[in-house]
Amino acid sequence: MIEPLRALPLDELRKRSSAKWRSYPDDVIPLFVAETDYPLAPAISAALHEAVSRGDTGYTPADPGAAVAYASFAARRLGWEPDPGRMRITGDVIMGVVEILRRIIEPGDRVVVTPPVYPPFFEAVPEAGGITQSVPLRDTGGGWELDLGAIDAAFREGARAILLCNPHNPTGTIHAPDALRALAELAERHGAVVVSDEIHAPLPRRDNVVTPFLSVSDAAARCGYAIVSASKAFNLAGLKCAIMVAASEGTHAVLRSLPEEVSWRTGLFGALATVAALSPESDAWLDAQALAIDANTELLRTLLEEHLPDAGYRPPDAGYLGWVDLSRYGWGDAPARRILREARVAVHSGPAFGDGGAGHIRLTLGCAPEVLTEAIERIAVLR
Ligand SMILES: Cc1ncc(COP(=O)(O)O)c(C=O)c1O
Repeated sequence: MIEPLRALPLDELRKRSSAKWRSYPDDVIPLFVAETDYPLAPAISAALHEAVSRGDTGYTPADPGAAVAYASFAARRLGWEPDPGRMRITGDVIMGVVEILRRIIEPGDRVVVTPPVYPPFFEAVPEAGGITQSVPLRDTGGGWELDLGAIDAAFREGARAILLCNPHNPTGTIHAPDALRALAELAERHGAVVVSDEIHAPLPRRDNVVTPFLSVSDAAARCGYAIVSASKAFNLAGLKCAIMVAASEGTHAVLRSLPEEVSWRTGLFGALATVAALSPESDAWLDAQALAIDANTELLRTLLEEHLPDAGYRPPDAGYLGWVDLSRYGWGDAPARRILREARVAVHSGPAFGDGGAGHIRLTLGCAPEVLTEAIERIAVLR
């Protein structure tokens, strides 16, 4: 039987030099940025130690093995067999998003985003020369879904692309295969493009199944791109490696047309770590981490029921982010500010996620249960 992974103790974590541990003083519990507190998967550790001992710190080759590793991971864990010959590496997911958008839109074109959504989406689109058009997710009462009618209207009125978050950050929504299929049909009908950020795809909660956008239909393969990475699931964000995936001749031609520099920006340690992360050797570690996160997503529910009973929370279908509605407490549009100031807990601020974010906070749940418990107990004192 697999045991849940245990997070490192706080005094060890505070020796880390990443943004999570170097942005606030030690009296603050940091749950804002999407980094996890677990030890690295052993295969990743070994690959990186070996590279350091060899002084293997040069440039990343064009094909460091990440594409084949992702294809194998997708076949084992996502039930999808993408062609590694139609992938290209780059430094990170947002870099991939920007570079693909640059190729497929003209300056001033509108690109649909579906808030509340990962805040850098609002910067990636203008960085590529586009203008974001918000088509908020629909709250169904039990979850969230794409508003296909409004997306259709946006395409009809000229939006050239949609930046999909699949699974969705911050709600943790896994988009239903039917919705993805319908989205692909809409996009193709209007000559629009779907750019699917699938960074959270390796992290379904419990028995959920994540559907990669490009796998849902021929139309999706023709009009879509996916950008994938091991960086969230295996906590490798600082190492800089992501993979852009195409599944048709036309979209692959677009990936091939990107400047060589786009792939040269990949970190060598990122590529080495990605190959180790996505290998079968790391599957057991990923399963053990999933158990720990599953437990925390439920623990958050229990803690909120006990300490903040008017909070709104639906455990995520995927990922390790908790999206919590605190609007009933009257702490303003951005409760994260008061929570940091008075409770000394750093959480991500809801309004940064666009429409639907007011009154919300986002918490990173890849931590020890004791840390999550203390964070919620501290926040509850503000009631
Ligand atoms: C949906 C989503 N996309 C992209 C990123 C960032 O990825 P990268 O550092 O590879 O750009 C994150 C990080 O949390 C994310 O949640």
